[in-house]
Amino acid sequence: MKIVLTVNEARLAVRDARQQGKTIGFVPTMGALHEGHMSLVRAAKAGCDFVVASIFVNPTQFGPNEDLAKYPRTFEADRQKLEAEHVDLVFAPTVDEMYPQGAVTFVTAEGITDRLDGRSRPGHFRGVTTVVAKLFHIVEPDLAFFGQKDAAQAAIVRRMARDLMFPIEIVVAPIVREADGLALSSRNAYLSPAERTQATALSRALREAQSRYRSGEIDSTRLISAAQEVFASEPAVRVDYIEVVDPETLEPVAKATSGTLLAVAAFVGSTRLIDNVLLGA
Ligand code: PAF
Repeated sequence: MKIVLTVNEARLAVRDARQQGKTIGFVPTMGALHEGHMSLVRAAKAGCDFVVASIFVNPTQFGPNEDLAKYPRTFEADRQKLEAEHVDLVFAPTVDEMYPQGAVTFVTAEGITDRLDGRSRPGHFRGVTTVVAKLFHIVEPDLAFFGQKDAAQAAIVRRMARDLMFPIEIVVAPIVREADGLALSSRNAYLSPAERTQATALSRALREAQSRYRSGEIDSTRLISAAQEVFASEPAVRVDYIEVVDPETLEPVAKATSGTLLAVAAFVGSTRLIDNVLLGA
């Protein structure tokens, strides 16, 4: 496994693989890798000849009062995990490498980036689309792999790739959960033991709404109420949003149909967690 820190080295390594006729799979990450990330890496290995993973904690997607400084940075552990999966190339640039002095150009997807997390975290998705577009230009993959846990990010990246005509297939892999339902997230590392227990409220709320949908409830307000009832029994958890939306546009829908996205975000202590379910799936 080769590790490169610069854009030029990454380009050369990928072009070399491409010249050998290999298909390129790309897994962008911010490190602190867990089984959710590794499921993306395995999917990339299964579908592509040459797999690139990036590790870059992207400052432009963090708001001024968010956790950029304390975001877990675990490069050596990440390197070992990627090596064990036989990843071919790791691109781990510095902030200066990705945002050279004086960089003023951003990529913005309009409208869709103001929904769900975009409404609660203004500017977040502008940072995501900017860095993902830069990474796509550097790596030029055939396939790029994202997790369903950040359903809004997946929808926005897919839209951006389409609008900017990146010839890249966006693959979205299912959420990986702990045995008790908690969706894997690098931010779970912030939770105290008591918060870790409280955090299951998110997946319990989604399960309750899913079960109501499966029993015939399609009214979004009532599905949201079903999720809210679960949160009401866990007062230490503060809900940011619970929404029933179209999975592609992220626009709210009044009536759910199969594949409609039910998404939640909630604070457990000071840690903001997200989770979602595709109704009927
Ligand atoms: O999902 C993430 O880890 C990040 O948002 C991404 C896609 C690597 C961009 O920084």
